[in-house]
Amino acid sequence: MSTQINKTIIALKETQAPETPLCAYIYDLAALTRHATEMMQVLPKNCELYYASKANPEEQILNALAPIVDGFEAASGGELAWLHQCQPQVPLIFGGPGKLVSELEQAIELGVEAIHVESLTELNRIAEICQQKEKNCQILLRMNISLQGLPATKLTMGGKPTPFGLSENELADALAMVKASSHIKLLGFHFHLMSHQLDRQVHLALMKLYFNTFITWKKRYALDVNLLNVGGGIGIDYANPEQRFDWRLFCQELDVLIEESQLSAVKIRFECGRYVTADCGFYVMQVLDIKHNHGQYFAVGHGGTHHFRTPAAQNHDHPFFIVNGEPEKEIEGGFSSIKINQEAVTLVGQLCTPKDVLATQQYVEKLQIGDYLVFTQAGAYAWNISHQNFLMHAPPRVQFI
Ligand SMILES: Cc1ncc(COP(=O)(O)O)c(C=O)c1O
Repeated sequence: MSTQINKTIIALKETQAPETPLCAYIYDLAALTRHATEMMQVLPKNCELYYASKANPEEQILNALAPIVDGFEAASGGELAWLHQCQPQVPLIFGGPGKLVSELEQAIELGVEAIHVESLTELNRIAEICQQKEKNCQILLRMNISLQGLPATKLTMGGKPTPFGLSENELADALAMVKASSHIKLLGFHFHLMSHQLDRQVHLALMKLYFNTFITWKKRYALDVNLLNVGGGIGIDYANPEQRFDWRLFCQELDVLIEESQLSAVKIRFECGRYVTADCGFYVMQVLDIKHNHGQYFAVGHGGTHHFRTPAAQNHDHPFFIVNGEPEKEIEGGFSSIKINQEAVTLVGQLCTPKDVLATQQYVEKLQIGDYLVFTQAGAYAWNISHQNFLMHAPPRVQFI
């Protein structure tokens, strides 16, 4: 892979002014296609995989995934419109807190597969819209249930007070409201309690909790529902990139769990984001300056967290590799810029804030001005979650290979 990235860096560099240092996102669409296909191939028979487009809604990414996944998940009216515009044939589901009435109307007009209802107020609004427009709508109730002792990840959306989903004590009221509407069809339940899950066994235990809850409610309320959305949340171990969540093994174990739980007739839907696209993206910053400040080395790259907020948002040192660049010409007898040999260096961007750090005190064999810092696993929650207008720096170039 790194050979291909090297070639792409050289090609990009050749097509810009030689004095401008490179700053770019590179996406490997072939790798994305391979990975998503493998994810689909090992899914148990009654499972579906939707792509949570919030992870990366680039058109080329959506186009690559559209023929592979079962559908796309949207979490705003903007995403809904964009997904529909890019891939009108792909089934859509619509979740997320604080949906506007206009967004609910948009989803109903579009005929999405399901709206994931976040609150009783939202359910009431859906009922009113359907009544007024004489339209039908399929829903899942998003539930925030107790984690029952399961270890939490660093990003939990439920199992504690959060703005996400309904509390279990609201369920009876929600079911009564559904029953009172001739336009709303309850398909089942939606859970997304944890993101950043790195532990396969814990995720499997979470699935078991969802399964048991689904079975209990189905029985308790005599519900004719057959869809269980188990959310996304499969993590990427940025600190140990070689340590991967074993999706294949997880799916094998899930298959056994489905069998044991007698849920083969229930459709189980995943809506994963990070795990689908993280690996296909690379963020490249060419080194502008190297400094030695209060005993530590700093390499300032062309770019920063305004393009690539992932490490700052998740508070980690982001994995990277170095591609040698053309060293800056030095004037004989003049100032000789700092070069790093077998030392630790902190990799920063161009922003006037000490928070613009992509990795802290990382050991490198060699680094000099003009080299390229290539941050891997930059394909999810990266460019699109960054504060792009801060300091009004130019955006990175974007290349799909
Ligand atoms: C409701 C919901 N579903 C799916 C996802 C995707 O999660 P991930 O990217 O961790 O797979 C998110 C992420 O925030 C979410 O909030």
